[in-house]
Amino acid sequence: MEKVVLAFSSGLDTSVCVKLLQEKYNMEVVTVCVDVGQPEEEVERSERVAHEIGVSKHYTIDAKEEFVKDFIFKAVKANAVYEGYPLSTALARPLIAMKMVEIAEKENAVAISHGCTGKGNDQFRFECTIRSASDYNIIGPVRDLNLTRTEEIEYAGKHGIPLPVFSHFSIDENLWGRSIEGDILEDPMVEMPEEAFNWTRSSAEAPDKPQILEIEFEDGVPVALDGKKFGPLEIVKECNRIAGLHGIGRIDIMEDRIIGLKSRENYETPAAVLIITAHKALEQIVLTREELKFAANVSETYSELVYNGLWHEPLRDDLDHLIDNMQKRVSGIVRVRLHRGNLRILGRKSPFSLYQEQAVSFEDKETDQSEIVGWLKNYGVQAACFQNVCKKK
Ligand code: ARG
Repeated sequence: MEKVVLAFSSGLDTSVCVKLLQEKYNMEVVTVCVDVGQPEEEVERSERVAHEIGVSKHYTIDAKEEFVKDFIFKAVKANAVYEGYPLSTALARPLIAMKMVEIAEKENAVAISHGCTGKGNDQFRFECTIRSASDYNIIGPVRDLNLTRTEEIEYAGKHGIPLPVFSHFSIDENLWGRSIEGDILEDPMVEMPEEAFNWTRSSAEAPDKPQILEIEFEDGVPVALDGKKFGPLEIVKECNRIAGLHGIGRIDIMEDRIIGLKSRENYETPAAVLIITAHKALEQIVLTREELKFAANVSETYSELVYNGLWHEPLRDDLDHLIDNMQKRVSGIVRVRLHRGNLRILGRKSPFSLYQEQAVSFEDKETDQSEIVGWLKNYGVQAACFQNVCKKK
């Protein structure tokens, strides 16, 4: 029997895929759960359920550290956000796909499979990565058989596939965020129910007392909180905890999917909102006006590439080089205040600061203010010329 490697989460789609691959495609199934910070129960459950459904082998790969260092931190340096979404799911997909290729090679498989539907973004992200790294056949059973969610539930019932505690929503969770979509949320006027949030307190339930937090950055990435050093994985977790406690990071947006469909999305991304907001504040004091303007454009292009599943497009790597060079000076401390869903910048400092307090000060006597007059005479000369020529007619 030919072997296929399936990305497995023990959710509805991927559980149905195991049986379909065995019965309809007649293949031996090896499942892989790549741990990028989804709930521990989900990782454990994947292993258990995979064996229950009868796969020939299951792998659990801990990729959390790699996810933070090689994906999340690049996104932080780039301030990567697509239409208000900090790209949590989008960033994890290429990493998961790369791990799939590794296992497929190890297992001598002929194909790689995923549980994506034919309407979403993840199929683009998985398949682009797999094709960039290998020439395995790719099988998407749910998409190929055009199954609806209800049909999948029916199929699972008939084949005795164990399903997780039923959630009406489609939820995807990793270290960088939690996404909640589907069911009643498909109506864009229906409010996200409070009980569907898991990482963030509502502003009503958040602590009454504000928290002042100092985030230290080195070369564009966070390294310490209130003077205490943290490793990459720990600092992201800690930021999720602190910002979530204060109700920071709830996002409700209409998002434009790759294929053009609009989709209503809810996210909880406390660490992403906290870290990127502070990072931008620090950039303002160390980067030049030209750099800041250019970086904003770079950020938009970068975010689109990530969202669109083009992690392996060389431009992404080109941009990372440019960004890394700029980020060499993005070191320093940002002080923020977190309180009931509000995040405020209170201060920033950096050894690479371009701020000239003495020169900008209203009390400065050293700079001869009158020297600017010559510059002003020709400033906006084209605007003045236009007004003279065109408006007088
Ligand atoms: N819309 C987001 C993206 O395309 C999140 C998708 C997450 N999937 C889910 N089943 N909730 O990256």
